Amino acid sequence: MGKMAAAVGSVATLAAEPGEDAFRKLFRFYRQSRPGTADLGGVIDFSVSHAARGTGPGAPKVVKSQLNLSSVSDHDALRAGLQPVSKWQAYGLQGYPGYQWHWVKQCLKLYSRKPNVCNLDKHMTKEETQDLWEQSKEFLRCKEVNKRRPRSLLEKLRWVTLGYHYNWDSKRYSADHYTPFPSDLAFLSEQVAAACGFQGFRAEAGILNYYRLDSTLGIHVDRSELDHSRPLLSFSFGQSAIFLLGGLKRDEAPTPMFMHSGDIMVMSGFSRLLNHAVPRVLPSAEGDSLPGCLGAPLPADLPRDSVVEPCSLEDWQVCASYLKTARVNMTVRQVLAVGQDFPLEPTEENKRDITAEGSCHLDDDNSQVKRARLSPDY
Ligand code: OGA
Ligand code: MN
Repeated sequence: MGKMAAAVGSVATLAAEPGEDAFRKLFRFYRQSRPGTADLGGVIDFSVSHAARGTGPGAPKVVKSQLNLSSVSDHDALRAGLQPVSKWQAYGLQGYPGYQWHWVKQCLKLYSRKPNVCNLDKHMTKEETQDLWEQSKEFLRCKEVNKRRPRSLLEKLRWVTLGYHYNWDSKRYSADHYTPFPSDLAFLSEQVAAACGFQGFRAEAGILNYYRLDSTLGIHVDRSELDHSRPLLSFSFGQSAIFLLGGLKRDEAPTPMFMHSGDIMVMSGFSRLLNHAVPRVLPSAEGDSLPGCLGAPLPADLPRDSVVEPCSLEDWQVCASYLKTARVNMTVRQVLAVGQDFPLEPTEENKRDITAEGSCHLDDDNSQVKRARLSPDY
């Protein structure tokens, strides 16, 4: 751990007073700090260059943020006694609230387990797919040592379904293929939906997508859910991707947008039934590294009734190694309107419409063999 942890460590040795909170502890710590000593090691210094500050785990969570350069002229800057706008630097702090780790860990360690359904089930027994995490974690942790080893099961994981399990062949959800939806993800989804004006959203089905750097998601519309007045929530983690948001019909050119780690996309109202796709997952600029917002989980005071849990160093190492070349996306859907039941025969129009781009959902693009699918099982 870096300087931040050191500072927090010193603080922990201060006598806690009745009713004293974490903020007050740090207030008191810095009030009595001595300049030129390790006391100030945890204080973020924006004047130190990004490279000098380091980007490793535990490094201060500072990210460069974009300024709208065109809105202030150099002349007006000068009139105000400021440098030309091109010399201005803006930063943001990452990690507020910063529990992306929890969701990544859940996707890899917990949600991938039975009774949830995954792409590996078709060719493997329940016993073989029972605990992908246990079987893969040692491989992942020593990834650098042997790059040419066979892919671990976690690296072969492409999708997991939750709640009402989506059937890729019939393109339907059904009453008789349901397992309990994870309560933490339901809670997260309800909060996000409510903030977007959808009180009473029910997280009933989930599709988790596990992208490698060469994976793509074909052009599609999510219409299998029976109540399209409810939003579809999508949470992205790990490497960034280009997301294409199109129109109701395929002839409309889509709008490309980056989907970065921690981004949440809500498709609702008119946008609920728009065509969309992920044509590209972008390798990080620094090669194998992780977005800053995914730095080491810092010790934090979680509320007593928190649904996110602290992530152990050991678990974090496995997730970090996995995410260096991967993107994880969780989509959460309400399938039925309140009081609605599944019809005996679903109508054609409610089927999830996957177009000529492939009957498969998530595609691996093997660049040697022209757009060949690496996994024929979905
Ligand atoms: C989906 C989907 C988008 C993404 O699973 O239906 O559109 O960003 N995912 O992975
Ligand atoms: Mn979709």
